[in-house]
Amino acid sequence: MELIAQGRDADVYALDGARVLRRYRDGGPPTEPEARVMTYLAENGYPVPRVYDVTDTDMVLERLTGPTMLDEMARRPWRVTALGRLLGRLHDRLHEVPATEWLCERFTTGADDRVLHLDLHPGNVVLTERGPVVVDWSDAGADDPAADVAMTVVTIAGADVPGLAVRLARGLLLRGLRNGTRTDPTPRIQDAAHHKLNDPNLRPKEAAWLRQVVSRSGTG
Ligand SMILES: Nc1ncnc2c1ncn2[C@@H]1O[C@H](COP(=O)(O)OP(=O)(O)O)[C@@H](O)[C@H]1O
Ligand SMILES: [Mg+2]
Repeated sequence: MELIAQGRDADVYALDGARVLRRYRDGGPPTEPEARVMTYLAENGYPVPRVYDVTDTDMVLERLTGPTMLDEMARRPWRVTALGRLLGRLHDRLHEVPATEWLCERFTTGADDRVLHLDLHPGNVVLTERGPVVVDWSDAGADDPAADVAMTVVTIAGADVPGLAVRLARGLLLRGLRNGTRTDPTPRIQDAAHHKLNDPNLRPKEAAWLRQVVSRSGTG
C-alpha cells in the first residue's frame, strides 16, 4: 500500500483511486464513535470524507484529492487571511449541527450543545474540487461552540513553528479566523489550553506556551 499522508497519530494509505485506509500507529482512540460522528455529519450536509468500513484501529474512507489548508498556506502565503476566514466559516457551519444524545452521553454537556471537532486546524482541512473537507474526527464532542474555536486558536497560536515569516502568517491566519466566525472564543481560551496540555504529541515549547496561558487565569 502506498503511504500518502501522515498526521501526528495516523498513517493514511491509498487503497485505490477512490479510497484510503487510515490507521492509528499506536492503537489510538476507538474508531467506532469517530465513524459514527462522520456519518451523522454527512447526513447533515457537513463536508466530511465518506466512511466505507471500520475496524478497531482502521477506517476505510473516501479518498480526498487536494492540498491541506496547511500545504496551501505554504504554497500561496498571500491567501493566508482568506484561508483563516474559511476556517472560521467551517466552524460556524459545523456549529449549526445539533449534538445528538449519544454524543452528549460521551462528553460533559449542557442544553443547547452543538457538534464540535475540537482539533479543527489547517492540517485537518483538505481543499478538494468539491470544496473544503474536514478530516480527523477522533476528538469530536458536544459543547458550546466557543470551546471549539478556542481549541483552534490555542493550537495555531501555540504551534512550535520555525521562522519569522511563518509566525507573521500565523498572525494573519488567526485574524482571518476571528473575522470568519461569529463565535467569540475568549471565554474558553484558558480551558482549551488546559485541555490541550493532555495531548501526548505536544512539543516542549508548545507545552510551555500552554502552561503560560493556563497560569494567566490564576493571576487574572
Ligand atoms: N480521506 C482522506 N483522503 C486523503 N487524505 C487524507 C484523508 N484523511 C486524511 N488525509 C491526510 O492524512 C493526514 C493525516 O490524517 P488525520 O486524519 O488528520 O490523522 P492525524 O490524527 O494523525 O492527524 C491529513 O492531514 C490529510 O493530509
Ligand atoms: Mg490530523
